[in-house]
Amino acid sequence: MPTPSFILAAPPGYEPLPARVLVAIETLPCDLYIWRGPRPILYAMRGGDLRRVVARAQRGMSFLVREIDADLLHGALTASLPRVLGDQRVSPIERSKTAYSIAAKVLTPIFTRDRPLDHDGLVLSHAAIDSITMRLLEDDDMVWAMVATMQKHAATHTHAINTAVYGVVLARFVRIGGPQEIRDVARGGLLHDIGKNRVPKSILDKPAPLDAVEWQVMRGHARAGYDMIVRALGHSPSYAHIVAEHHERCDGSGYPASRLGSQIALDSQAVAIVDAFDALTSCRPYKTAMTAFEALRVMRVAMRGQFNDELLREFIRLLGGWNVLNGGSVSGEISNPDLAGVLKVAG
Ligand SMILES: [Fe+2]
Repeated sequence: MPTPSFILAAPPGYEPLPARVLVAIETLPCDLYIWRGPRPILYAMRGGDLRRVVARAQRGMSFLVREIDADLLHGALTASLPRVLGDQRVSPIERSKTAYSIAAKVLTPIFTRDRPLDHDGLVLSHAAIDSITMRLLEDDDMVWAMVATMQKHAATHTHAINTAVYGVVLARFVRIGGPQEIRDVARGGLLHDIGKNRVPKSILDKPAPLDAVEWQVMRGHARAGYDMIVRALGHSPSYAHIVAEHHERCDGSGYPASRLGSQIALDSQAVAIVDAFDALTSCRPYKTAMTAFEALRVMRVAMRGQFNDELLREFIRLLGGWNVLNGGSVSGEISNPDLAGVLKVAG
């Protein structure tokens, strides 16, 4: 399979620093390198002149940082998120693109398989998604901008960010609770598939139906994710049940506990909807992406009974009100006839 364009090359021991991410930093938190010969050479030192670096990056020059400096870099990037997201001099779309790039950069390590989920990485992921959540709760313009910015390729971390963002806007739309409860939807949405770090890639990306043994391994990811989070934090956080329950289905057909709708927490049911929607509308190695209309139709017709229908109908109304999908205003009214049609089917 060809290397996706979002993955930049770097020699062993280094990682690339995309220009958009670099622009967000006010002071260099670590040394910066360029890669011109057999090995990277030092270009700018920690605390050095960032204006020159940013100007070069904007003209297409690529920079690297050492992997051992990743914690410093990710800490600085996470700290920059509230400023980036709230910078009124920049359009919502540009703010969203920068925030999304930062989140993807900061969150990639915790979705790396064969690496234990560590306390500091988890706490950093909370901080990153909390900044985005707070902005989405305060700034309507950022909602459709973040949705328009979503990347829909096969990477686990982008599906995680998308699920968190959709989860926040759905939870806000249906008033699932206050900021604390919505923050938990975001954290649970972000980390819902963290247990897939423990599932072999041969099973995750298999371009054919799984056999019984493989399917059992796959189904284990919900409970594994819950256990990983509890182990890393030393306690069970208030969003952990979402991770454990995100594959439970209202008709009892889900896993791991085959719970019925009344036994599944409402925030878990909301995350189940947005997880399925983002998965269906994203590319995977084994499938192409559905349109929003196709995905919602599948969820209301072919998967009838699996999701909380009231929440699903609200999600469809929410999507129909976004100009990102129908070219109209953010009104809450469905002006896209396709989406209005999905509400009528099997209603
Ligand atoms: Fe999952």
